[in-house]
Amino acid sequence: MDSNSSRRTFLGICLGGLGAIAAAAVSWPLFRYLAPGSGSETAGKVVIAAADVREGEAKFFEFAGSSAVLVRKRGGDLFAFSAVCTHLGCIVQWEKDKQDFLCPCHAGHYSSDGVVTAGPPPKPLKKLPFAVTAGNVTVG
Ligand code: FES
Repeated sequence: MDSNSSRRTFLGICLGGLGAIAAAAVSWPLFRYLAPGSGSETAGKVVIAAADVREGEAKFFEFAGSSAVLVRKRGGDLFAFSAVCTHLGCIVQWEKDKQDFLCPCHAGHYSSDGVVTAGPPPKPLKKLPFAVTAGNVTVG
């Protein structure tokens, strides 16, 4: 093996390593944004002022180390769900104009009461227990 060949091999290894580091630096923030938290903390109760969730709107919050959402359907019914898509675990988004949830990863759709209406999710959004007392919604 001559010195040019070993130099090319060395440079190839260095460039490959730099490419791997650059790919990790770009993809890690995206992964953290799309993936739910993996914390195993026990679920506490979360209290949200009922007035903070207006009709036709949704409020996202952290619950038991993951994303959750409180939605008040048009007409006033209130629901609390895990915001974790049941397909591969991305976080759903509320589409106010369509009154449904969209999972941005594979275009899964859920109705405002958590039922799958399109796309690959195999199950509805997981409902969370909640109670409304004295103008507050207590989830958990
Ligand atoms: S992770 Fe939500 S549709 Fe695939």
